[in-house]
Amino acid sequence: MLDDIEALKEEIARVTIADEEELETFRLEFLSRKGKVPAMFSRMSEVPDEKKAKIGKAMNAVKNLAEKTFEEHKKRLQRKESATLSAKDDLSLPAPPYPAGSYHPLTQTLEEMKEIFYRLGFSIADGPEVEDDFHNFTALNFPPNHPARDEQDTFFIRKSDDPETEDLVLRTHTSPVQIRLMQEKEPPIRTIMPGRVYRNEAVSPKSYFLFHQVEALYIDTDVSVAELKETLISFAQLMFGSDVKYRLRPGFFPFTEPSLEMDIWWEINGSGRWLEILGSGMVDPNVLLAVDIDPEEYTGFAWGMGVERIALLRHQIDDIRIFYDNDTRFLEQFH
Ligand code: DAH
Repeated sequence: MLDDIEALKEEIARVTIADEEELETFRLEFLSRKGKVPAMFSRMSEVPDEKKAKIGKAMNAVKNLAEKTFEEHKKRLQRKESATLSAKDDLSLPAPPYPAGSYHPLTQTLEEMKEIFYRLGFSIADGPEVEDDFHNFTALNFPPNHPARDEQDTFFIRKSDDPETEDLVLRTHTSPVQIRLMQEKEPPIRTIMPGRVYRNEAVSPKSYFLFHQVEALYIDTDVSVAELKETLISFAQLMFGSDVKYRLRPGFFPFTEPSLEMDIWWEINGSGRWLEILGSGMVDPNVLLAVDIDPEEYTGFAWGMGVERIALLRHQIDDIRIFYDNDTRFLEQFH
């Protein structure tokens, strides 16, 4: 009998199974109720008692081999099936949703601002973030050693006592791009200049050491303060709605005369206050002279507005620092 058992074991070991059909044939031949494995067990009654233990063990080994062979081939065939496309698969089904990012709220605000200025007839330009002293200060009518320079807490990249070597700074405002533009181009000029600026400021809910501005410059013959006011008010109404509450008040900048600042009423957390969004004014004749434009022939206005401030107002945000935290719980609200 042991020989028969051994023969059956070898038969099972030799089996090849290529598909579902052969798997079923295997099951019927060996494992089903009338198959060879149960038939083998039915011969147990012929076995004398003293050999039962040994024969039983050998039979069990054959049965285990048959079952293991069946299970392994079954699994293999299932895996194969799921890896190949069948005619039943619908290739036109949409793919499962893929999590998509979105523009940063500051980028979104900047895009809205640009859209408005395109409508008001402005083109767009940019300039370097590392500036020389001439463009960032001197050409804008900040004389050397003038106290107005101290108002813009500056990150110096290179500072030298030698008058031949110009200081380099991380630009403290986008106004130097005005100078670059006027050096390159004859009036009329009507351009906005968005970009990043840096100041060595104490960080607070209203201030950060890095922020964004949208500079503007309009140079032509006979540009008036009335046109400046008209443009600023149009912008505020297009950005915040026609019922926006704004205020224009006099200010001081070395590169404009007269100068104006604009505030927008900021209603947040149940209380309200004015928030300054920009500085502006009529371009000072000294600035025009620094770039060889005749102030007798041309006049112009300019402004620099804060993108973060406008985004705070636009989205009822009470702390500027949240723009830079990269907290997805905040950013996901701007899909
Ligand atoms: N550059 C100024 C600042 O950052 C803002 C500013 C004021 C820009 C008046 C201008 C201007 O173009 O005309 O504080």
